[in-house]
Amino acid sequence: MSRRRTFESLTEAAVAVLETAPADAKADLSRAVAAMWRDGSIAEIGAARPPDRPARPARPRLLMPRDMPRRRGGGPAKRIAFLHAIAHIELNAIDLAWDLIARFAGPALPREFHDDWVRVADEEARHFSLLAGLLEDAGTAYGDLPAHDGLWEAACETADDILARIAIVPMVLEARGLDTAPGAIERLGRAGDEASVRVLEIIARDEETHVGFGVKWFDRLCAERGLDPADTFRELVRSRFKGALKPPFAEAARERAGFPKSYYEPLAAGL
Ligand SMILES: [Fe+2]
Ligand SMILES: [Fe+2]
Repeated sequence: MSRRRTFESLTEAAVAVLETAPADAKADLSRAVAAMWRDGSIAEIGAARPPDRPARPARPRLLMPRDMPRRRGGGPAKRIAFLHAIAHIELNAIDLAWDLIARFAGPALPREFHDDWVRVADEEARHFSLLAGLLEDAGTAYGDLPAHDGLWEAACETADDILARIAIVPMVLEARGLDTAPGAIERLGRAGDEASVRVLEIIARDEETHVGFGVKWFDRLCAERGLDPADTFRELVRSRFKGALKPPFAEAARERAGFPKSYYEPLAAGL
């Protein structure tokens, strides 16, 4: 994007990212807005209403999870399907970060809150672009395969309450990414796919920070409301998240993110 857009406020810019449909343009604008927030060219937080659903490109075709093609066997097709699925998750993560900001940001929250989630939005955009680059190197592109429709459900289920949003998005869904990353990195390493390993290692490291921001703001908001964070987390997961949490958990990575076992372990399937 050569022409630099200007924005009156962070929330106005957040809505602009949400309303950008082409995937590359959404990722580029996400990074540009983060840079404008850091250098002070966006200073106000403002107030804006995010769309119910973010704009998305015409491709990929979005399918219900049950209609998604099964990935069988190995080889390049499986690798591409895996990278495409992660790219789709990262594109969704860009929208989730800006939706959190547009929906819940405001004068009641400190500068640090906004800094943290802008950083998340910046990093999710970087993740998307790194994966899009890997797909391009493999002679394909984001959009060439169908993708999972339904990732935005968590946003809809938690649109009314910042505590619910933080419990479900960073503390359940992104924490789940911490659990699955080591296995994926190992598999790609065994296949000699060093380029993908490097990208997934960057993503896994950043996602620890995102989960950590989730826990930090969840705890602070619970303290403000006089709520016990571990109990409140479990209540919100039970009421707002379909399904149980799946062990095994990457306890070391969760620990580095400051996420105590006592919050999530009692929710594990089969316990
Ligand atoms: Fe990410
Ligand atoms: Fe993330």
